[in-house]
Amino acid sequence: MQSFCVKLVAAASLFTSFASAGFQKDSRNNVAVYWGQNFASGSQQRLSSYCGSSKLDIIPIAFLTSLTDPTINLANAGNNCTTFPGSQLMNCPQLEEDIKTCQSKHGKTVMLSIGGETYQEGGFPSASAAKAAAQTVWDLFGPNTKTANRPFGSAVVDGFDFDFESKTQNMVPFAQHLRELMDASSKKSKTPYYLSAAPQCPFPDVADGEMLAGEVAFDFIMVQFYNNYCGVQNFVAQGGRQGGGSARRQQAAFNFAAWDAWASGKTLDGSRGSKNPDVKILLGVPASKSAASIGFVEAELLRPIVDFCASNFKSFGGVMMWDMSHLFSAGGGSGSPVVGSFLEEVHGALSLASSTLLKGTHRVNDVNATASATRQQQPGQGSSDAAKNNSSSINDSANGGGGSAPLSSASTSYYLSSVAVSWPGLVLGVLVHYSLGSILS
Ligand SMILES: *[C@@H]1O[C@H](CO)[C@@H](O)[C@H](O)[C@H]1NC(C)=O
Ligand SMILES: *[C@@H]1O[C@H](CO)[C@@H](O)[C@H](O)[C@H]1NC(C)=O
Ligand SMILES: *[C@@H]1O[C@H](CO)[C@@H](O)[C@H](O)[C@H]1NC(C)=O
Ligand SMILES: *[C@@H]1O[C@H](CO)[C@@H](O)[C@H](O)[C@H]1NC(C)=O
Ligand SMILES: *[C@@H]1O[C@H](CO)[C@@H](O)[C@H](O)[C@H]1NC(C)=O
Repeated sequence: MQSFCVKLVAAASLFTSFASAGFQKDSRNNVAVYWGQNFASGSQQRLSSYCGSSKLDIIPIAFLTSLTDPTINLANAGNNCTTFPGSQLMNCPQLEEDIKTCQSKHGKTVMLSIGGETYQEGGFPSASAAKAAAQTVWDLFGPNTKTANRPFGSAVVDGFDFDFESKTQNMVPFAQHLRELMDASSKKSKTPYYLSAAPQCPFPDVADGEMLAGEVAFDFIMVQFYNNYCGVQNFVAQGGRQGGGSARRQQAAFNFAAWDAWASGKTLDGSRGSKNPDVKILLGVPASKSAASIGFVEAELLRPIVDFCASNFKSFGGVMMWDMSHLFSAGGGSGSPVVGSFLEEVHGALSLASSTLLKGTHRVNDVNATASATRQQQPGQGSSDAAKNNSSSINDSANGGGGSAPLSSASTSYYLSSVAVSWPGLVLGVLVHYSLGSILS
């Protein structure tokens, strides 16, 4: 059964938001944003300039673009790197410093994402070549910090993400060996290392499909619900609360249900699903209109989608956004001039979805305190208006124009995994930890 454990934690000030604790497997509010590709052309800043945001948990660095001759590409951030003599491998002391800052000062989970659109190697000629490459990747970016020519020096990434966009071979032995190395190290050092993948939404995914078919244990996957028919742009709102029976969980196009079935270990057509039955699925969305060819939805339209996923799917674990440069581009985001506001709104949507869920099962007494704290963070944004609340389809509301009402404007902001509540005048935070299966210590 479900269990609660409530912790009281003194906070530094009224508006202190809690530092992110990185990826949390029992949380449904994880927020991941890719950094490295400067997809918005020009605006990408150094990694550490984003880590101060408490609304970010996971930052996959994009990308390690070659595995046979390890190569990283970081767009304009690469200009702040040199190369190791006699090698094309980049040497990035600034990033070394920033990864450590983001991890230790801000609690971020910093991963290295392998692949990307420019990855063209198609995998490995043999299983043994794949295993050797896994060892190389582990030596270059994992905890074996004495290895020569480490692009991020003594910084150690928290894990690896696979974002292959074209078909590969022998990726299963590569991923399995990397997982073995990670798990062996985790066991010894008690440091968790994570493996994730970013398949496109059509199920099964062409590029990552073999690994996902019960072969490799992933901690979480970040499905790209954009650039495809099955993306969030084709979510159809059903009015009212987004819960309900299996008929409601199924959408004609938007296919989180197929991925949730995968997560349970058995796909909708009965084939093998996730190897890890506790795998989490993050809803991947573009961070701005121009971050994907199709699939961007305004923040206010994302709220019912997040609510739908959070209330219907056990595997739902939060939201992924592509990419950081778009998220923090003025005028990018949700058509809002406020830099980073789309992130605030996504975070608010996750909080709201969790709160509604929580209230459905357990009463929590501090509603008023939270409501007032939320209102103060969002001046001028009072109660939500009924029409916005009730958007019957993406198209209807999108046509209504680019408003950006904060998703957190409704009355509460509880998180399923953690809650920050502020009372005006009182300097106190409350963390409510809620775990679905096991009791958190
Ligand atoms: C490059 O380094 C400069 C100077 O420290 C910094 O201001 C800038 O944000 C860095 N750019 C990237 C993309 O990392
Ligand atoms: C919330 O505030 C209202 C009015 O200020 C009050 O009537 C109500 O009892 C409060 N609810 C809780 C749970 O404290
Ligand atoms: C909007 O939706 C929220 C969450 O489902 C609900 O609590 C609220 O009453 C709705 N507001 C209106 C005006 O319908
Ligand atoms: C909500 O949507 C339904 C279906 O489109 C519509 O009939 C109803 O009038 C809407 N309500 C509000 C308050 O906009
Ligand atoms: C949205 O509008 C487009 C173009 O008008 C149309 O092709 C599409 O079917 C609409 N989608 C929904 C979900 O109504």
